[in-house]
Order: sequence, then C-alpha cells, then structure tokens
Amino acid sequence: MSDFQCHPKPKRLTWAEAACFMVTGPTAYRQLFGWPGNVVKPGEVVLIWGGAGGLGSMAIQLTRIAGAIPIAVASTDERAKFCLELGAEGVVDRTKFDHWGRLPDTTDEAGMNHFHKGARAFGKAIWEILGTRQLPKVVLEHSGQDTLPTSMYVCDNGGMVVICGGSTGYNGDVDLRHLWMRSKRLQGSHASNFREYREVIKLIDAGLLQPCLSACGTIEDVGLYHQLLHENLHPSGNMAVHINATESGSTELA
Ligand SMILES: NC(=O)c1ccc[n+]([C@@H]2O[C@H](COP(=O)([O-])OP(=O)(O)OC[C@H]3O[C@@H](n4cnc5c(N)ncnc54)[C@H](OP(=O)(O)O)[C@@H]3O)[C@@H](O)[C@H]2O)c1
Repeated sequence: MSDFQCHPKPKRLTWAEAACFMVTGPTAYRQLFGWPGNVVKPGEVVLIWGGAGGLGSMAIQLTRIAGAIPIAVASTDERAKFCLELGAEGVVDRTKFDHWGRLPDTTDEAGMNHFHKGARAFGKAIWEILGTRQLPKVVLEHSGQDTLPTSMYVCDNGGMVVICGGSTGYNGDVDLRHLWMRSKRLQGSHASNFREYREVIKLIDAGLLQPCLSACGTIEDVGLYHQLLHENLHPSGNMAVHINATESGSTELA
C-alpha cells in the first residue's frame, strides 16, 4: 500500500477512534474550507444539518476551530444536548417545522406560501439563537431533497450551500430567483484529498478535534449498525467495528 493510501494514526486514539472519523472528518473539512470564495471565516455563521451525525459532529468542532459560529439542526433533545456540548451556539429542532420536501410549482400560491412561512420561521429560529439578524454564510448540506429548499432560502447573500449527500432524496429543488438575485452558490463536494485528510489528522492528534466514537462493535454488528443508520436511530457521532481485533480500547497494535 502506498503512502498515498496510508495515514499516520493519531497516537492518543484507540484504533477504533482512529478509524471512525476518517470519512466524516475530512469530508466536512473540505465542505467548510475547500471552496475558495466561500471558505469559512471567523465570525461567520455556519448552519449544520444533522449536527449530531457523523458529518455534523465534525463540522461543529471544525467551525469553532475556525472562529466561526456553528448552528446545528437536530431532531431530539438528546442530540441537541450533544451538539451544544460539542460547541454549537444553539440548535434548531427540525421536528417543529412541517414545510420539508420538494418545492411546489411556483404557480401553486398556497403551496409556496406554506413553504415560505416554514422557511421564514426556520430562519427566525436561527436569529433567535444568535440574538442578531445574521444568516448562515455556509450551509453544510447532506440531507438533500427535504431540506435543500430551506438551505437555499436561509443562506446569506453571497453565501454557499455545500452538499455532499442526498439521504432524503436526490431531487433537490432550487428557487432560481433566490439563487441569482442574492448571488448564492450551490456547491457539490465529495470526500477530500490527501492534504485535507492530513490536516484533519493533525487537528485530532493535537487534541483540538475529537473523533466522537459513539459505538464500537464487531463485524457481526455491521448489519445492525447499518439498520440503525437507515432508521436514524443510531447514537450521536461516529461508529466503528473491530475486525479480527483481539482487544478493545488499545492504542497500540496487538
Ligand atoms: N460525499 C461524501 O464524501 C460523503 C461523506 C460522508 C457522508 N456523506 C453522506 O452524507 C450523509 C450524512 O452522513 P453522516 O455520516 O453524517 O450520517 P449520520 O451520522 O446518519 O447523520 C445524518 C444526520 O442527518 C439527520 N437527518 C436525518 N433525517 C433527516 C431529515 N429528514 N432532514 C434533516 N436531517 C435529517 C439526522 O439528524 P437529526 O435526525 O437529529 O436531524 C442525522 O444525525 C449521508 O447521506 C452520507 O452518505 C457523503
């Protein structure tokens, strides 16, 4: 295996901890810092969908490290608490809103009114957390179809919605009027490059970023863990499994 495919393991971590952040940490890093023109800057607000999830838990911490202000979205009190403990400025409870999904046709006045009312209320929830009328300069997206219209709506003028997944569906509707009139950007982002991996590993190694290992099972648990992910019932953070490992919690090779 070449150096390109291997990365140094942060010494302070167990092997499971070291494995668990390798997809989500660098992917969130590229979303936040990999797109010139909209690289997250100190003082900016970043909206993070699924703040208690794998990407979200990394993104909250990375946003704080950059001196910016993470606002998380979550669907339970327990997840909201997890986000706050990681450094979120506040958490929006998405279950309090019902305007999710694809946009209605623009000629459907009642449908568009329902969407705008919900999206405005969602934006107001962000303002209430901040105590100012500041909007997110970057929206970290992965939920896709159900949330993209709201992400595009609440994103600040000249800001960016950066998306790496579509777990609620792949048809993300965009009201183009908001896109061009407010000079917003919709940016696709996938995984990360070698340098970005190493930057994240350095932050983890320095103890500035936590891997957020929430569960560690064996290969027999892979099916169960996938099912929990599918049903959105998994614990907050990142999960891992041991394969052929003889002991748990070790920081050294057996
Ligand atoms: N392209 C890439 O490089 C890349 C890399 C990593 C991940 N991804 C993709 O990104 C997505 C998220 O990955 P992850 O590891 O962060 O998953 P995760 O740990 O399951 O977190 C996803 C979060 O999304 C939230 N969520 C679930 N249903 C939602 C809905 N209807 N509306 C809004 N939020 C909802 C959940 O939080 P609440 O229920 O608390 O809101 C959950 O914590 C997946 O689709 C994954 O495939 C892509």
